[in-house]
Amino acid sequence: MAQRFVTLPEIRAEARKTLPREVWNFGEGGTETETTLRRNRRALRRLAIRQDILVDVREIDLTTSLLGVPLSWPVAIAPMGGLVLFHPEGDVEMGRGAEAGDTLQFLSGATGFAVEDVARTSRGPKMFQLYHMGDRAWVADLLARVEASGYHAVVLTVDVQVYSRRERDIAARWSPREAMAVAPNPRPPDPTYPARLTWDDVAWLKKTTRLPVGLKGIMTARDARRALDAGVALVWVSNHGGRQLDSTQASIDALPPIADAVAGRAAIVVDGGFARGTDVLKGLAWGADVVAVGRTVLWGLAAGGAPGVANALGLLREELRTSMALAGQTRVRALARDAVFRVD
Ligand SMILES: Cc1cc2nc3c(=O)[nH]c(=O)nc-3n(C[C@H](O)[C@H](O)[C@H](O)COP(=O)(O)O)c2cc1C
Repeated sequence: MAQRFVTLPEIRAEARKTLPREVWNFGEGGTETETTLRRNRRALRRLAIRQDILVDVREIDLTTSLLGVPLSWPVAIAPMGGLVLFHPEGDVEMGRGAEAGDTLQFLSGATGFAVEDVARTSRGPKMFQLYHMGDRAWVADLLARVEASGYHAVVLTVDVQVYSRRERDIAARWSPREAMAVAPNPRPPDPTYPARLTWDDVAWLKKTTRLPVGLKGIMTARDARRALDAGVALVWVSNHGGRQLDSTQASIDALPPIADAVAGRAAIVVDGGFARGTDVLKGLAWGADVVAVGRTVLWGLAAGGAPGVANALGLLREELRTSMALAGQTRVRALARDAVFRVD
């Protein structure tokens, strides 16, 4: 595909220009003072990459895998609800972009389209992000459909006990839930259910699905250890891109102690502010198997549909490859923690 945009900032600028102001703010914004949101970016900027010279970097191996699913490069699309606000075919179009960009798609539990439709309309590998926004019978039915549709894993999001106060939306008197009602998929029956979730529900989930289970929203080594004890196969280090609890640690800073606690016993995904190839390198060096990106591909979707998503992913991949070469690193799986260090 000919690239329409030649840098990632161009894609973001185009999305900003194209989207209605409320929708841009819903995508871009965070909670309350947006301290978590800013901290994610600041913490990544504060890290420096070690520069090793005179290494033969003609071949850069970006390949990896997640829960046995082979990936040609270590970046996945984070689950995002409300995609229909950014493109009329929302999650379906994002799936096409993921396929074109050769990337794993996490489908949001707040998907605007049926899990079957998203699975049918693109061929790339997919995993499902679950919102437990209904009783156990509702979740069991949904997971049976997810399994039958070929998703490779289910990841329960655990940082939306209650919906946060997103002040950009509140101040605009604008409700994303109402705006999303145009999507064909029915909304989950009980958005208040997650407030009661405990580790018992993780045990229940493990018994209920044959798929590997992950937890998204782990920010401490203690919770990571509990997750391992519960048999969780994927630990997702995330503060929801600054959209849930305000004033948390940056997810990149939460990552190293969690990686130590996990010690290879589960897969690790990180997200939160990863927007450039150098950011991805940093996340991998500090312990993630895969870095997930939200807004970076969201702007691609808004700016150009599936080709826009593929364009954004292609640029991110090119940046990663270039940064690896310039850092004297040849294999993403071999990146070690001391390849990146704090400088401020
Ligand atoms: C518009 C939007 C919708 C989101 N919806 C969901 C969701 O439905 N489920 C979920 O687990 N996380 C959701 N997230 C959080 C992302 O999965 C991810 O944690 C976050 O966006 C990563 O930060 P980044 O956007 O800076 O890459 C959403 C994020 C955005 C920007």
